[in-house]
Amino acid sequence: MMIIMRMKGVVILAGAALYVVLVCSRINGERGCNVYEGEWVYDDDHHTYPLFNSTACPFIRKEFDCIKYGRSDHHYLHYRWQPNACDLPKFDGVKFMRKLKGKKIMFVGDSITLNQWQSLTCLLYTASYGSNVTHHANDLISTLTFQDYGISVTYFNSHYLVDIEMEEFGRVLKLDSLKSGEIWKGFDVLVFNTWLWWHRRGIKQPWDYIEDEGIVVEDMDRTVAFTKALMRWAKWVESDVDPYKTKVFFTGVSPAHYRGEEWNEPGVRDCSNQTRPMTGSSYPAGEPLASKILKDVLSSNTTSVHLLDITTLS
Ligand SMILES: *[C@@H]1O[C@H](CO)[C@@H](O)[C@H](O)[C@H]1NC(C)=O
Ligand SMILES: *[C@@H]1O[C@H](CO)[C@@H](O)[C@H](O)[C@H]1NC(C)=O
Ligand SMILES: *[C@@H]1O[C@H](CO)[C@@H](O)[C@H](O)[C@H]1NC(C)=O
Ligand SMILES: *[C@@H]1O[C@H](CO)[C@@H](O)[C@H](O)[C@H]1NC(C)=O
Repeated sequence: MMIIMRMKGVVILAGAALYVVLVCSRINGERGCNVYEGEWVYDDDHHTYPLFNSTACPFIRKEFDCIKYGRSDHHYLHYRWQPNACDLPKFDGVKFMRKLKGKKIMFVGDSITLNQWQSLTCLLYTASYGSNVTHHANDLISTLTFQDYGISVTYFNSHYLVDIEMEEFGRVLKLDSLKSGEIWKGFDVLVFNTWLWWHRRGIKQPWDYIEDEGIVVEDMDRTVAFTKALMRWAKWVESDVDPYKTKVFFTGVSPAHYRGEEWNEPGVRDCSNQTRPMTGSSYPAGEPLASKILKDVLSSNTTSVHLLDITTLS
């Protein structure tokens, strides 16, 4: 629960990062500012923060509605990300929707991505107050459509990006299969992520076998499996996504927040008491291995994927 609250920061950031890249792309390149290097600062401008009121966002899932479920401090709603080398514009939902008029945006990934989707949709909902917003959902896909701008923002639930298929002997995680790609293809903006599920075991592991290069095994090195799946995904991006039509983003790796040693609080086993972001621009435990792997695959196997490099923001 608190992990989700902690990730709230990531969320707003992803919305803000998308905003910067899609709406204000000049800011990113012009001055060579790396917007991912910086720190969270408390902003006491009460007209601007919080950026949305979760109670007034009708489709927010209960696990993300911290205030409704009793979080008493509101400090965390007033942070803004301050890059070291430049300033970010304030998020402007109307500007976002004008710029992306008629576009279809899809988020594909695990709960971190769900969180981002949720946050962006609440930001846009707040900005489009009074206009016609429709919501369609099933187990796999959830779409908000902002009718006045013809913009849809979809969440596609996928823990691994590659497929899990039911065979007669059990559920198989197929490192070389990406059938859902057929559904993702038609979108104008795609935002992916995957990582935290690769190390799940026991009842939290939603598959029984792994298929790799046509061979079915009970298990394998999870980091290797993750790398192979990312390469498969990268191959799909290069062969099936038209870079002139679709902008592709990948949300970087968030540290897991289960081991206090990683943030200088040895013995702590979760982040239920963490209510303020860390200061500075680095994570004491250093960059997670998965983040390095992801950067390698993106740089050597893709040509136009933008990494939303949120590791030190989360
Ligand atoms: C948030 O929205 C709820 C429901 O619309 C409203 O009762 C509440 O006053 C709002 N809170 C703030 C801080 O605006
Ligand atoms: C909202 O948009 C949907 C789909 O375009 C339409 O069917 C519905 O009548 C609209 N509702 C309102 C209140 O305008
Ligand atoms: C959180 O902090 C309170 C007060 O310092 C302490 O009693 C509690 O054990 C802490 N909980 C965890 C999970 O660290
Ligand atoms: C990905 O990049 C690595 C390192 O450059 C290379 O060995 C591999 O063949 C590439 N894979 C694909 C599918 O392009």
